[in-house]
Amino acid sequence: MQVWRRRHDPLGTSIGLVPTMGALHAGHRSLIQRARRTCQTVVVSLFVNPLQFGPAEDYGRYPRAQSQDLACCREENVDLVFIPNLNTLYPQDFQTTVAVSTLAQRWEGEQRPEHFQGVTTVVTKLLNLVRPARAFFGQKDYQQFCVIRQLVKDLDVDTRVILCPTIRESDGFALSSRNDYVTKSQRQRALSLYQALSAGKAAIAGGLRRADLVEKNMAKVLDARHGLAVDYLACCDARTLEPLSRLRGTVVLLGAIRIGGVRFIDNLIVRIRR
Ligand code: PAF
Repeated sequence: MQVWRRRHDPLGTSIGLVPTMGALHAGHRSLIQRARRTCQTVVVSLFVNPLQFGPAEDYGRYPRAQSQDLACCREENVDLVFIPNLNTLYPQDFQTTVAVSTLAQRWEGEQRPEHFQGVTTVVTKLLNLVRPARAFFGQKDYQQFCVIRQLVKDLDVDTRVILCPTIRESDGFALSSRNDYVTKSQRQRALSLYQALSAGKAAIAGGLRRADLVEKNMAKVLDARHGLAVDYLACCDARTLEPLSRLRGTVVLLGAIRIGGVRFIDNLIVRIRR
């Protein structure tokens, strides 16, 4: 990868990187298309990163679909698909990790203690290898975006981190490579997360500014469904991800639920003008 970049674009000034774990869907396509529109050269990485999965999580069964992924990249005119080998990326004597503190410790960080450290370590490696001018991430994993933006700022990485909108099915269900894990009825119940967040957004649009009341509104939509556990449902500052009591500025509504052992996360950003 480094040799290619040195030859192709020594400064990396026109490279856009879309880091993925493969199993590409319309959400990834939209990231690639955004990169295509703004960068001369588009690099997509496909790597299921073991460091970001907890011991009881789905690393083993995470969907792998390399030939479909390559076909998708070809259709989207990707210039280079980077598929690092596990032992090349993490050789036997690998011993360095990159960790962001406060931002990575709350919400998903509380539920998945090792997760963000795995993400920030692999993303640092990918940014070092590709040295892109821009890197593209989906809003679906909003906390991941915030953590990576912080990492890039703190470590003076010369890459712009670009947030791209969540791609949803027609009823609002957010696309994810893990969606194939669920049955139709689980998917229907999981849709209530988006509906709860939308209820929160509507309440804010209607003038509600107390976070506890907005959260109550959202929880009511979820409570109506059985067999669903709520990990968190909160109104937060969109930059720091701190929970808010009074809503103003740019707010992110964050939610995570579990249904039959599968976790779903989603979020909506709300801009409050007055
Ligand atoms: O969002 C993902 O697919 C992964 O967390 C990423 C950023 C590719 C790192 O493995």
